[in-house]
Amino acid sequence: MTSIAADLYPRVSHVVPEAEWATMADDVEAILRLKAERNAVILAHNYMRPEIFHGVADIVGDSLALARKAMDVEADVIVLAGVHFMAETAKLLNPTKTVLIPDLRSGCSLAESVTPADVRALRAANPGVPVVTYVNTSAAVKAESDICCTSGNAVKVIESLGVPKVIMIPDRFLAANVARQTGVEMVVHPGACEVHERFTPLDIAQIRTDYPGVTVLAHPECPPEVVDAADYAGSTAQMVDFVDAKAPKQVALITECSMSDNVAQLYPDIDFVRPCNLCPHMKRNTLGSIRHALETMTNEVTVPADVADAARRAVERMLAIGVAK
Ligand code: 13P
Ligand code: SF4
Repeated sequence: MTSIAADLYPRVSHVVPEAEWATMADDVEAILRLKAERNAVILAHNYMRPEIFHGVADIVGDSLALARKAMDVEADVIVLAGVHFMAETAKLLNPTKTVLIPDLRSGCSLAESVTPADVRALRAANPGVPVVTYVNTSAAVKAESDICCTSGNAVKVIESLGVPKVIMIPDRFLAANVARQTGVEMVVHPGACEVHERFTPLDIAQIRTDYPGVTVLAHPECPPEVVDAADYAGSTAQMVDFVDAKAPKQVALITECSMSDNVAQLYPDIDFVRPCNLCPHMKRNTLGSIRHALETMTNEVTVPADVADAARRAVERMLAIGVAK
């Protein structure tokens, strides 16, 4: 292992054994070199494996933060270590950049659950009702919407509309959770996140039995009864903010597996209980797939011109609401 990889090791030593890190060192160093050669930056979602999140990423965050930061990238190339809709959003917001995704198969059960035709049918059935689309959708679906939201700003986006009823798609659980917070009636679509829909109130009860006094934070893509059983619900960035502000002695993050691994490094005095579900789409991102994308400059993500303008409008309308997180 060279000194570069050795210097980075303390960032992952809480979850990656030294012998395993030694096997990763060649890819890490190649990626750091390729970033400089290609004038590239890596934007990584909070669900990336620790060796990506702490080892090679330049910017990390939740879906909203990654969209905001993508706008400001000055480098020629953006590697979006996340899933396809995130890469499309980066391309929409910074269209002159080359946007690469490590694995083009990195989809999302939410994005795949809804088509532009579904949105048009919902609009036809609910004339005059605005369409709010979760960012976890294709650009083509965004292009059919009035405004986007993320889990971090959904409540503020809905409240900004000042209407009694919205079409909120495609996550039926996020819609149900936001409906309860805002009192706004929701027309929903039967989509769900395959990671978060699997958590149950029984899981939370078991965690509380096993770890008395634990603080439980749930993602709002979880079913409402799971959110009810938790102490707090928020996006992945809001979970970090909660941990930072409240410094609980022991915490369980009810979300994707890498989240706790990544956050634990920042808070060595907090005990992270690690019940989790893996996102197979996020896990397609590896050091090897990032290295390959940068070496070959393949897996470029583009957005067809006929949908880009309308999709960008829906995303920019969301960003204009000016929500901090
Ligand atoms: P946030 O990072 O916006 O909370 O979203 C979670 C998620 O599932 C993204 O795919
Ligand atoms: Fe989609 Fe859920 Fe995976 Fe996020 S965690 S990419 S919402 S399937």
